[in-house]
Amino acid sequence: MLSKTLLVALATLFSATPTLAVDCTREGLISAAQSYLAAQIAGSPSTLKLSASNFTYQQNNKVSTIAKSLLSTPYKIDYNRTSADTIDCASYTLWISTAGSKPYVVGTQIRHANNNTAEISMIDTVAATTGDLFFNATKTLDYIRKEDWSPLAASSRPSRDLLKKVGDGYLDMWTDAKAADSIPWGTDCERVEGSQYTNPCGKSLPRGGSSKKNGMRRYVIDEVLGSVDVLCQFDSLGAWPDSHEVRVQEGKVKYVHTITVMKVG
Ligand SMILES: *[C@@H]1O[C@H](CO)[C@@H](O)[C@H](O)[C@H]1NC(C)=O
Ligand SMILES: *[C@@H]1O[C@H](CO)[C@@H](O)[C@H](O)[C@H]1NC(C)=O
Ligand SMILES: *[C@@H]1O[C@H](CO)[C@@H](O)[C@H](O)[C@H]1NC(C)=O
Ligand SMILES: *[C@@H]1O[C@H](CO)[C@@H](O)[C@H](O)[C@H]1NC(C)=O
Repeated sequence: MLSKTLLVALATLFSATPTLAVDCTREGLISAAQSYLAAQIAGSPSTLKLSASNFTYQQNNKVSTIAKSLLSTPYKIDYNRTSADTIDCASYTLWISTAGSKPYVVGTQIRHANNNTAEISMIDTVAATTGDLFFNATKTLDYIRKEDWSPLAASSRPSRDLLKKVGDGYLDMWTDAKAADSIPWGTDCERVEGSQYTNPCGKSLPRGGSSKKNGMRRYVIDEVLGSVDVLCQFDSLGAWPDSHEVRVQEGKVKYVHTITVMKVG
């Protein structure tokens, strides 16, 4: 006969573990991002493991069909880099293609539902090409290749909270006159906006002026690389699909990259 105490203990044990908690792993996120790059090089989205019940493809802030997307054309990739957010189970991949008549600089966030990195639930891409703001893939590649994106020592990683604040603070500079001074600018820090280079990156910043806040913000935050990427719609200046990525080292901003889809002329 089981004692009453034991039955209560067993009931508590089972009710406390209704489902198995699954962790989102860095390895899983990076491996899914690599499958995305392989599909892009092949021009073949059918190789991707997409969720059958919950998948969305978005390109330049519009939901669209993956079969007709950038992924269905092969591109030679000169540079790629991925950051990983194990809390939101998402990754950010930057890739640059300088070859051919249609060069690209692309920022893609990949999301996974229920921490299941074996399946992709969203591919969210901002893709800039010839004619977009400050676009020159060759120049961008030259700047970005020289950067050091090695993982930060565990003792000097910025908090998730700080990274989120830096990402938001940056995008708020056009609507909030005080936002620029809320950001910890590094002294030797580089800003690459499209192919336009500024050093130090805290030079000539906007201080308000627009009444429209930059909207549609989607975040990938990686404490290991000290980075935040925010995909958004750059409403302060126009309804432009945009990616802003910032790296923080030793508590200060080290790199800023922007990809902005704005056809000029
Ligand atoms: C997903 O994984 C993260 C990181 O391990 C964890 O904090 C979170 O609770 C998990 N979420 C779910 C729905 O299991
Ligand atoms: C991505 O970049 C790494 C170097 O950081 C390189 O080893 C790898 O081959 C690249 N992958 C693709 C698909 O180009
Ligand atoms: C579908 O995927 C999105 C991420 O792309 C996630 O936020 C959402 O919770 C998922 N829905 C379900 C029902 O799993
Ligand atoms: C891009 O920049 C490179 C290096 O400055 C230059 O040689 C090239 O002509 C530029 N390309 C275009 C399309 O403007």
